[in-house]
Amino acid sequence: MNYRHGYHAGNFADVVKHVALVAILLHLRKKDAAFAVIDSHAGRGIYDLAGAEAAKTGEAQTGIARLAGLSGDLPEALSTYLSLVKETGNNSYPGSPLITAKLLRPQDRLTAIEKHPEEFAALAQLLAPYRNSVAEQADGYARAIKLLPPPSRRGAVLMDPPFESPDEFSALAQAVREATRKFASGVFLVWYPIKSQADADAFVGEVLAGGIAKAMVLDTRVAAPGAKLGRAGLLVVNPPYGFGAQMRDVARLVAPCLGGDIATAWIAGSE
Ligand SMILES: C[S@@+](CC[C@H](N)C(=O)[O-])C[C@H]1O[C@@H](n2cnc3c(N)ncnc32)[C@H](O)[C@@H]1O
Repeated sequence: MNYRHGYHAGNFADVVKHVALVAILLHLRKKDAAFAVIDSHAGRGIYDLAGAEAAKTGEAQTGIARLAGLSGDLPEALSTYLSLVKETGNNSYPGSPLITAKLLRPQDRLTAIEKHPEEFAALAQLLAPYRNSVAEQADGYARAIKLLPPPSRRGAVLMDPPFESPDEFSALAQAVREATRKFASGVFLVWYPIKSQADADAFVGEVLAGGIAKAMVLDTRVAAPGAKLGRAGLLVVNPPYGFGAQMRDVARLVAPCLGGDIATAWIAGSE
């Protein structure tokens, strides 16, 4: 476990993933009924953009920093995301568990799972003041699947593994299939790097073969020098009503800031 998200926090992929997460959470908040969020690979929850890890890659400079000029009448998910980043503080960037913890209502629950001891310790400390959010140190896939379906029977699951291991795609596809089988009505947000179109297609195909009726993908490409990752996918199973349209509005504003392209496409079912 060498991966540290601090090197990548606030990069183009985080921006799109976190706006999508906010869009899903805002949708779940529209009904009073409680919802649960399970974040299988949560990270430490907050990142220092002035620290050594961020400075080494400079990825936030070509990610969140490029959104500084956005203002005016923005899609709600984008404006909420930008406010959350701003309130996290200068040179700090919120990870998925902090974004989620801040958007929960008293009746909602977050379980944030992280395996790395130091990242987990930081996460547990960060979430301690949030009474309906809990950090657990465990293997993300196994624990997330065990927690499904949540008692509230409403909610979202974020799967955002580090892709350190060569068989991560197949482990992720298996986990998504098992998780969607146990919680068929849940919203699933699944992140993956796209280094090869064939690998990405095979992954999505393997998930769909599990019998998913409604899903879309977001495909973000940016110019990336050298060996840096320049393309990432988000698979969204059971996207909420209006999610695709909202993300297309987000894409029109955000893609030019990132100097790239964000494409959305239904791969199973439709609105
Ligand atoms: C991409 S980062 C997560 C970023 C976070 N979801 C966010 O958006 O802010 C992946 C995280 O998974 C953790 N991790 C690695 N192996 C794990 C495992 N088997 N179970 C749970 N977490 C794991 C890493 O330590 C790292 O913090």
